[in-house]
Formats: sequence, C-alpha cells, structure tokens
Amino acid sequence: MSYKEQIDLQRLPAHIAIIMDGNGRWAKKQGKNRIFGHHKGVETVRKITDAGAQLGVKYLTLYAFSTENWGRPSFEVNALMELLVHTIRKETKQLNKNNICLKAIGNLEMLPPKCLRELKDAMELTKNNNRMTLTLALSYSARWEITEAVKQICQKVSSGQLNIAEVNEQLVAQNLSTAYMPDPELLIRTSGEQRISNYLLWQIAYSELFFTEKFWPEFDEEEFYKAICIFQQRERRFGKLNTTEQ
Ligand code: FPP
Repeated sequence: MSYKEQIDLQRLPAHIAIIMDGNGRWAKKQGKNRIFGHHKGVETVRKITDAGAQLGVKYLTLYAFSTENWGRPSFEVNALMELLVHTIRKETKQLNKNNICLKAIGNLEMLPPKCLRELKDAMELTKNNNRMTLTLALSYSARWEITEAVKQICQKVSSGQLNIAEVNEQLVAQNLSTAYMPDPELLIRTSGEQRISNYLLWQIAYSELFFTEKFWPEFDEEEFYKAICIFQQRERRFGKLNTTEQ
C-alpha cells in the first residue's frame, strides 16, 4: 500500500512546518551551482503545497530564508530574493485558484522593497482564501520573534495596559507572529541535518520531528506522505501517561 493510502484523513496534522534544507548540496551533486538548487527547490515548494492542500492540511509553514541567511554571499542572497519576487508574482494566480491564503512571518522590513511589495500584494490578493494557509518564514528567526513578543508585552506593561500577573503562556503565544495558527504537530527537516536552526522554537514544544536524508529538491509527495504516516504511528502524550498506564 502506498503511503498516501495509509494516511488516516481524520487524524491529519492541522499544521506542518518544514525546514527546506539541502538545495546547495543537491545542486553540487549535479555539478551545478547553488542557485540551480534553489530553482529546483521552488518546484518542490509547489508540489508540497499542492499535496498538503489536497490532503486537507490547514497550515503549512516553510522556512524560506533565515535571519542567518543574510550572511551568505550577496550574489546568493540577491538570487534568492529575485527568485522569491518572481515566484510570488508567478504563483499568486495559482494560489487563488487553489483557495490558498499566503502569509509571511519574520523581520519583513529587512527584505528589499520590491520583494516586500510583491509579498504584500500577494498576501492581500489571497487573504480571503480558506482552504489552507501557506506561511513563508522570511528573514525569520525564532529568537528574534520571541524577543519582539517580549518587547510588545513590556510595552503594554509599562503603559499600564497590562498587569504583570496577566502575563502567561497564552499571552506570549498571542504576541508571536504565528498567533493566527495552531502550533505545528509535525516538523519536517530535509537533507539529513538533525537541527532546529532557530525555527519556531516556542511553537514546536510538542511537535513530532521527522528528519529525512532527501535534499529539498528531491523531496516529493511520497516522502511527505511518509512523514505524515510516521507522525500518525507515533503516540502523542504531551508529557502525560497513556491511557493504559493510568
Ligand atoms: C536551504 O538550502 C534552502 C534555503 C536557504 C532557501 C530555501 C528557498 C527556496 C526553496 C526557494 C525560494 C522559496 C520560495 C518559497 C519561493 P541550502 O542553500 O541551505 O542548502 P545547503 O545546506 O545544501 O547549502
């Protein structure tokens, strides 16, 4: 039986987060430059977005550019930004057709103005779509996000809008850029690396982790379905005992 057939659609993870890794190494293996790998990576983004929406996943969050990625050679950073602008422009129609809402998290003000404009336009044009929300983490790092949340909360406390006694986990979560969605139940990382790399640190507290050896450009629907099947085979206890142990 294929992995897709094994998926229990009643127990789908509502939110899947992905660290798309290995574009550069994949390209090198083909004797091509890193940019070629990023272009191939966009094809995988398209495939996995469609597969997620078709299954009924409600939220898909992709790590497209980390705060640390600004430190790459400017040639690569520029190519990635160009690719982003181009892809967003090209795919907006398709997102609408598939009823997918595009959102972005991260320090978006750091993006080149053209890129930010394109992104904002696409988000505006897709904002009423409700089949799935595709969130791109761009110029994102979880520590930056948490620091921003702390600043917002402090501001409210210092202006007297909020009492320190009212600060709890729920309030912190409400001040994160992901406040509009549930925490991811499943986090996937490609390319054999087993790290979190400053991604959604608060939100993945109880996420199941799936690491695959496949590089992002070779990650496909079948591997995506496999990750969901493995997720469904695991027992999620949230720190409690399972029912037979009680
Ligand atoms: C990781 O591969 C990938 C990235 C840093 C960028 C991901 C970007 C895309 C897939 C294309 C743009 C995305 C969208 C949503 C339009 P790597 O470069 O770190 O590979 P390496 O670890 O082998 O060097």
